[in-house]
Amino acid sequence: MANFFSFRILLFVSITSGVSVSATVFMVQNNCPYNVWPATFSGNGNALGEGGFQLAPRESKQLTLNASPGWTGRFWPRTGCNFDSSGKGRCVTGDCGGVLKCTATGVPPATLAEFTIQGDTGKDFYDLSLVDGYNVKMGIKPEGGSGDCKYTGCVADLNADCPHELQVTDPNSNGNENVAACKSACAAFNNEGYCCTGANSTAATCSPTDYSKRFKKACPTAYSYAYDDATSTFTCSGANYLITFCS
Ligand SMILES: *[C@@H]1O[C@H](CO)[C@@H](O)[C@H](O)[C@H]1NC(C)=O
Repeated sequence: MANFFSFRILLFVSITSGVSVSATVFMVQNNCPYNVWPATFSGNGNALGEGGFQLAPRESKQLTLNASPGWTGRFWPRTGCNFDSSGKGRCVTGDCGGVLKCTATGVPPATLAEFTIQGDTGKDFYDLSLVDGYNVKMGIKPEGGSGDCKYTGCVADLNADCPHELQVTDPNSNGNENVAACKSACAAFNNEGYCCTGANSTAATCSPTDYSKRFKKACPTAYSYAYDDATSTFTCSGANYLITFCS
């Protein structure tokens, strides 16, 4: 009887606090058959999940962003990591300076989930980006919001389909004939046309290339190059987000 009563009180408290605080919940879920070390980085210094953590296959972690209109942040998967007990080490892909808990962005190539969160005050913007290359299949699914709120993701195996000149290989990688990640053409060739810089620094002067078109064909809703906004930016209001790896 006493147990039942305290359970009711707990439930009541959690329901009322859930209503009064406008929070955005990110559920990060590893559907891969191998370990992933998700990393997070915020442009406004409010890193979720302490910047990074490990997820075993089928594991997930819930991260709560409390009301913080204008918060911008990104999530990316890291693979092949080895960290010691103090959190120092390195990852084969997505490494952020040799630490488990990132305080900087990762080394490309890595698949990115990018967000601008407005909470109760307006539309969130989100996208799945291949502009910095690709390492793991990834998806973003808004839950419970209003507006467009479409799923976006890239669950094609771009490592298996990666042109030789863009491949990052690792003898211990997860299958895929040792291709651990696939670079963007900008990272591989560092020229203005591929990077949309210099003479090609505007939407009008930077067109899709054979490389970005290849990414776009495999993953039509993902950003394939810097000016791919029209088909790759999504909006939703008041949602929570499920971020998945591998499917
Ligand atoms: C970059 O600019 C040059 C010069 O205008 C143009 O010929 C080329 O097609 C542009 N590259 C891309 C990828 O749009």
